[in-house]
Amino acid sequence: MKVIILAKDNLELADGEAKALFETIDRVEDLLFLQQLSSKQAHRLAFAKEVHELLSILDSEDDVHKLSWNKLIKGTYAIRTHDIPEREMAAKVYMNLRHPVVNLTQPATEIHFFKRGKVIICTKKLFTIEHGYEARHPKERASIPVSVHPKIARAMVNLTGGQPGATILDPCCGTGGHLLEAGLMGLKITGTDIEKRMVDMTLFNLKKNNLVGKISRQDVLTINRPYKYIVTDLPYAKNTKTINIRAFYQEFFIHIGKILSKRAVIGLPDIFRPQQLIKNTGLKITGEYTYYIHRSLTKKILVVEKA
Ligand SMILES: C[S@@+](CC[C@H](N)C(=O)[O-])C[C@H]1O[C@@H](n2cnc3c(N)ncnc32)[C@H](O)[C@@H]1O
Repeated sequence: MKVIILAKDNLELADGEAKALFETIDRVEDLLFLQQLSSKQAHRLAFAKEVHELLSILDSEDDVHKLSWNKLIKGTYAIRTHDIPEREMAAKVYMNLRHPVVNLTQPATEIHFFKRGKVIICTKKLFTIEHGYEARHPKERASIPVSVHPKIARAMVNLTGGQPGATILDPCCGTGGHLLEAGLMGLKITGTDIEKRMVDMTLFNLKKNNLVGKISRQDVLTINRPYKYIVTDLPYAKNTKTINIRAFYQEFFIHIGKILSKRAVIGLPDIFRPQQLIKNTGLKITGEYTYYIHRSLTKKILVVEKA
C-alpha cells in the first residue's frame, strides 16, 4: 500500500485534490493511504510532499523488532521520525540489523516512523514530489497583482478531476495561472478574458512554457458551448471594471449552470455566501475550501456540479 505525505499547510485542500484524482482508502492526519499510485500520477499533486510504501502499523515502539529489517534494508539507510524521538527508534532498528550501515545524507533506504494518535506508522520513502513552482511563480511570469500562485492553481485544476487529454476552460483566465498548470498536466486548455491585455499575457506565459491553447477575448457571459471542466478565479472589487460584483457573480453562476456538463472549481473572496450565489442556477456545491492570502483577503474555492 502507498502513503502520500500531504502538505500540512492546508490539509483539507490536500485531501480534496488527491480524492478528486485517485481512489483513496483512508487518511490519518497528513498521511493518505491508497492501493496504487505511479510517480507520474503523484507528481500532479500540489499539496503533497512525498510518496512512501507502508511497511507496518505498530501498536508501540516495542513492536519495532517484529519487522524483517534485514530484508527491508539492504545497504545504507537512515531512520527519520515524526513526533517520536529519533534516537530511540534508530537504536531499535540498529539492534535488529546484522550489518547496519547508517548514512544520514544519502541513504539507499529511508525508513520513517510517524506517531499518529496511539499508533506508529512505519514506511519506506519511495520518492519526493518535485513541483518546480519557482519558475512559474507570478513574479517570474507576465502577471497582475491578483495572479494565482501555481500551487493553488494546480490544486484547483486537480479538484476538477480532469485527466490528461480532457479539455478545461478558464473563462476569466487573467494571465493564465490555471491554464499553465492544466497544460503542464496534459489537459487541453481553453481560456477567455474580457481584456485583450490579459489574453496577450496568457499567450506569452503559455508560449514560454511550450504550451498551446485556444485563448480569446470574450465575456464569460457570452460563452455558449458546453464544457465538462471549468476552473477560474473570479474578478473581485479591486481588479475589476465590473461595478456590481455580487450581481456579476450571480450572473456568472447562472451562466455556468447552463454551460457546465461535469464539474467547475471557482475561486472567490470568502465574504460571499456560496449558497446564495448558486441559488436558482441548477448547480450544487460538492466541495468548499478556504485559503489565506494576506491579512485582508481569505479566499474560498467552491467545487460545483449540476444539481
Ligand atoms: C482574478 S483575475 C484572474 C487571475 C488569473 N487566475 C491569473 O492567474 O492571472 C480575474 C480576471 O477576470 C477577467 N474578467 C472580468 N470580467 C470578466 C468577464 N465578464 N468575462 C471574462 N473575463 C472577465 C479580468 O479581466 C481578470 O483578468
